[in-house]
Amino acid sequence: MTATILGIESSCDETAAAVVRGGREILSSVVASQDDVHRKYGGVVPELASREHLRRIVPVVREALERAKLDFGGITAIGVTQGPGLIGSLLVGYTYGQTLAKALGKPLVPVNHLEGHVYAVFLEAQQAGAGARGRMPELPAVCLIVSGGHTVLYDVRAADGGAGGSAEYPVFRCAYSRIGSTRDDAAGEAYDKVAKLLALGYPGGPVIDQLARHGNAGAVQFTAPRTRGNPFDFSFSGTKTAVLRHIRGRAEFGPEIAVRTEALRAGARRAEDLLPLCSRLTLDLVASFQLAVVADLVQRTLAAAEERAVRSVLVSGGVAANSELRATFEQEAAARALPVFFPSRPLSTDNAAMIAAAAYPRILAGEFAGDDVGAHANLPLA
Ligand code: KG4
Ligand code: ZN
Repeated sequence: MTATILGIESSCDETAAAVVRGGREILSSVVASQDDVHRKYGGVVPELASREHLRRIVPVVREALERAKLDFGGITAIGVTQGPGLIGSLLVGYTYGQTLAKALGKPLVPVNHLEGHVYAVFLEAQQAGAGARGRMPELPAVCLIVSGGHTVLYDVRAADGGAGGSAEYPVFRCAYSRIGSTRDDAAGEAYDKVAKLLALGYPGGPVIDQLARHGNAGAVQFTAPRTRGNPFDFSFSGTKTAVLRHIRGRAEFGPEIAVRTEALRAGARRAEDLLPLCSRLTLDLVASFQLAVVADLVQRTLAAAEERAVRSVLVSGGVAANSELRATFEQEAAARALPVFFPSRPLSTDNAAMIAAAAYPRILAGEFAGDDVGAHANLPLA
């Protein structure tokens, strides 16, 4: 069966809808970002997020169908993010998907957002070389999901009796176990908070990524975070506090932060606009901060991969778009002869194509939701 799935995602601050055929062919993927709404707060405001989802969900779904040149009749099933995420945000997408499925008489497949991020990697691999098994990540794998809301390491294996694994659809149903996760901030959250401290705009990750190229990453030394008990847990709040202390300890930061605050108020967004307003001190600090975060993410992930003797490493989530993270992973993984897989940047950050892709093997297995299933803010993957 080649099912055409409408995916809906609203777990955080992106309202997204996509149409994916056969679990691998992206017919459309629409993402409405709420960055403009949350920018002045330097982080996602849950009440504003759910209000925006309400405003955008219908036009976003309509646009996804239009771009796929389909109407609702052409959809086999609806895959919708069930959790984890902000409950008000989740409820908008989930209830809409549920209502739509009911009205159309189509099956509804609830999808764990984190599993969506894992399937973003499989989806990408199939874009690169349709059906070529050689390009698919081999399981078992270690998957790092690293975003504004999550920093978590999973062991990913083929699930017994799972659908998939055919030439037409070379993806297995997966079983997950959690290896480690952050004890405080997510890595993307640390990026966003450091950007806020330095008046570099919101979201902070993409801007710091670009500015860091102009700084000396060896200028400021950060102590590597220690996570007693589980070496595969993460912790980023100490690094963020060290950045704060570094700024407070140097009066020179004050005036340039004031200048950038003014520039942001006047509409500056892009790294190119902020770069001339950054001193060497700031560029060195963001480069050093990025090095500390990236080195920690890569080191713990590869240590977990080696300990478990897995066959590949998967990296997904908003921070997986980071160029330094990608380069370091590729270099370090190659040195260990471990293949590493990332989604393209649009599939790394929150999107609905990954939700539709994760729904596909569940459709094949006939796993649909009844009316009693609802959105779940803390839905675990494992
Ligand atoms: O996956 P995502 O779109 O939403 C969440 O589930 O959080 O990730 C957004 C996060 C933000 O914290 C943003 O600053 C970070 O990903 N991010 C980046 C980059 N692009 C986005 N962090 C570092 N470097 C980037 N290039
Ligand atoms: Zn996400």
